[in-house]
Amino acid sequence: MPIDRSVKIAPSILAADFANFGAEIGAVEAQGADWVHVDVMDGHFVPNITFGPAMCAAIRPHIKTVMDVHLMIDPVAPYIDAFAQAGADIITAHVEAGPHIHRTLQAIRATGAKAGLALNPGTPADAAAPLLDMVDLICVMTVNPGFGGQKFIHSCVHKVTELRKMIGDRDVHIEVDGGVDPSTAPLVAAAGADVLVAGSSVFKGGSVSDPQPYGENIRAIRTAVQDRQVRPSHPQRASGST
Ligand code: DX5
Ligand code: ZN
Repeated sequence: MPIDRSVKIAPSILAADFANFGAEIGAVEAQGADWVHVDVMDGHFVPNITFGPAMCAAIRPHIKTVMDVHLMIDPVAPYIDAFAQAGADIITAHVEAGPHIHRTLQAIRATGAKAGLALNPGTPADAAAPLLDMVDLICVMTVNPGFGGQKFIHSCVHKVTELRKMIGDRDVHIEVDGGVDPSTAPLVAAAGADVLVAGSSVFKGGSVSDPQPYGENIRAIRTAVQDRQVRPSHPQRASGST
């Protein structure tokens, strides 16, 4: 069955309450999140440190949809099995993280997880060309990775358009990560992105005891992209599907 190319909102728990991940995930899924995006940072590939496989395993039982793990780490290879065992549905590695991205993608798929490839803002779309048949998702970074709440880099929108053309009829998602909000989401959806990672714009104004703002924020993004997405050829949506 072809993949679901309708727009999916993937809140990044980088913007959630770190002391309350289980409840935050339950709240944001109840408020309409399609996937849950988990940002893993090592203080080496990016100038920030978040969490590792043990934390991913701990939150896994709270995720009913899709656990989308974004590895901003170098090296990647020694940790792939641990993130797969932690229950990641999708494991995304950066093309810039080490010399062996081809081998890394093979290793991710060998675990049974779906393989994602992330491109930093300074990396051209062409970097993905030799890898298109090895990936299930391409993550276009629209900020320099490392922190939430940064300003969307508009020059990255064209990369989404280029990748959409390059992908053709392959079953590959295009995810956009960084600075996504109701003003920028329509631009990337129109260019062909179908997975929109959003941290601060989803979690702002809410909390586990007052989660309605999460739903309002998610709906604001969805409403903004409506009718501006490249028409999916198979528009069916199933919660928890990749
Ligand atoms: C950045 C992370 C993003 C980040 C997005 O390094 O990969 O997922 O959490 O946060 P916002 O939506 O706040 O830009
Ligand atoms: Zn991310």
